[in-house]
Amino acid sequence: MCGIVGYIGAQPAVDILLDGLTNLEYRGYDSAGIAVNVDGQVELYKAEGKLQNLKDIVNAKKSHIEKSTIGIGHIRWATHGAPTTANAHPHSCNCGRVAIVHNGIIENYKELREKLEKQGCTFRSQTDTETVAHLVATKFAQTNDLTEAVRLATKELEGAYALCVIHQDVKNTLVATRRNAPLLVGIGEGEYYVASDVPAIISYTKKAMYLDDNQIVTLTPDSMKLIDSENNVLSQKIETLPWEPVALSKMGYKHFMLKEIHEQPDVVRNVLSGKLKAIDEPIKLNEVTLDKDKLKDLNRIQIVACGTSLHAAMIGKYIIEDFCGIAVDVEPSSEYIYRKTITDKNTLVIGVSQSGETADTITAVRQAKKQGSHILIVTNRPDSTMAREADSLVPVNAGIEVSVAATKSYMAQVISFYLLAIYMAEVKGVNNFTELKHELVVLPQKIEKVLAHKEDIQTCAKKFSSAKDFIFIARGINFPTALEGALKLKEISYINATGYTAGELKHGPIAMLDESMPVLSILMSGKVYDKILSNSEEAKARNARMIALTDSTDEKLNDLFESIIRVPEIDELLSPALAIVPLQLLAYYIAEFLGKDVDQPRNLAKSVTVE
Ligand code: G6P
Repeated sequence: MCGIVGYIGAQPAVDILLDGLTNLEYRGYDSAGIAVNVDGQVELYKAEGKLQNLKDIVNAKKSHIEKSTIGIGHIRWATHGAPTTANAHPHSCNCGRVAIVHNGIIENYKELREKLEKQGCTFRSQTDTETVAHLVATKFAQTNDLTEAVRLATKELEGAYALCVIHQDVKNTLVATRRNAPLLVGIGEGEYYVASDVPAIISYTKKAMYLDDNQIVTLTPDSMKLIDSENNVLSQKIETLPWEPVALSKMGYKHFMLKEIHEQPDVVRNVLSGKLKAIDEPIKLNEVTLDKDKLKDLNRIQIVACGTSLHAAMIGKYIIEDFCGIAVDVEPSSEYIYRKTITDKNTLVIGVSQSGETADTITAVRQAKKQGSHILIVTNRPDSTMAREADSLVPVNAGIEVSVAATKSYMAQVISFYLLAIYMAEVKGVNNFTELKHELVVLPQKIEKVLAHKEDIQTCAKKFSSAKDFIFIARGINFPTALEGALKLKEISYINATGYTAGELKHGPIAMLDESMPVLSILMSGKVYDKILSNSEEAKARNARMIALTDSTDEKLNDLFESIIRVPEIDELLSPALAIVPLQLLAYYIAEFLGKDVDQPRNLAKSVTVE
């Protein structure tokens, strides 16, 4: 979703802003812009579409723009107003002296806009953000102090924001603040950086300070002052960012998605490391602080998540219920927050999120926290807003994921759920997981075998790439795999793909089957194998083009299926962690074959920070 970069120091700001925006590009966006202060004048440069369009405009005037050593930049994912140049950030006020970039949504922008228009402000965009620019300008006219103007303006804002502001009359000062949207300050020598996410600044500095809600930071090239909304000066908590710039390199792969799919064997090893020490030892989850007696008393677990994380949560439900005998509900966060939910102190609420910044999931866990539930967060970002809401944390250690379509973070979430489910069962006194633990340890090698045969999947992808629709069927623990396989395909290839429980096929979806419809059956050995085989026969009888994803070596499958994707044999209980890999590859190769923008699919954002 939207991204913010700011710079103040001695270097030309423009290079740092464009570089920072490039490193946020992966989040998904539809327009971009920067504001700089050249020879005492605030100047705005904006473009719709890809960042390259902005770069072209800026490069044409580079020798002029690079005189500025202060600036703010933004990539926008449209919420209020179409993705046009006029709606792109930065936004300004009537006199053009203020420039502002914003992530989030100002919920009371209509009322503010009406009020400001009455006061003579002329709006040039349809955005909620422009109200903030006018509001800051109005407050600045009253106070002649940029920090105070921002502080007073934010008091009138409802909703979520991360803001970065400069003003023509206050040279060499940059003010930033946040509420319910992430923002951090990177600290250099005689220079400061501001960013909505680490990748924007990690190649410049590892020293940083995260802002908390309602804090306001005022930066000059050689000073940083932090205050709260009541003007109290706060102490600064400086930390070292645990990130390496190399994570943002494709390392020779054509796309980040392909690189991230290939990283999965190591991701599994990382997740297990330190938690699964030996197959005859209990699982260790140090950051799970839920009292062991309380854990035994749990009567219910609710898991909230969105998108791919929701599918990982569905596998979590299956195994927690199976291993621990505790009832688990899984619900999209965006539904959970708009109904009366029944939770109490014996309910554990688990939030699952790659980014830890998904607005709906943050709201859902906050809602549950208010009702007294213990909050456990499964996230790839222990530095995120959601992680800071957590009573217990399960960090999933997938490393930074750049491709919008989640792959390795899903793998890490799924493996984390296995560890969590076994951990909880062991606390409850169930101890028969030796075989499963062994399977977890050898899983990376099995994934490596699938990756080693990726050419077969590439061939299959080519064969089915002209399909307009796709159906994925599975049962039991692999139903979420069918949903996730279908989601991957639609996200990056725009083919209409749907996952069904195989048993439901005949209750409606079967009407869609004909010789143009590929049906991919996830046919992993175990208790539902024969049932899915029968459902596949039913689909074949309606002339569907059948594909199998299986760990079976049964030659008879050759008669039923036009294509067979084989994976190594695996315990049914762990099979989702292996079966998803060929489906990620299938989606990848179909999208790549169709020439789609694999890493930045249209309309999608890596982390959705608005409800
Ligand atoms: C967006 C992304 C998805 C992701 C979902 C939830 O829609 O495009 O890939 O699964 O958000 O994100 P989270 O960070 O909470 O896992």
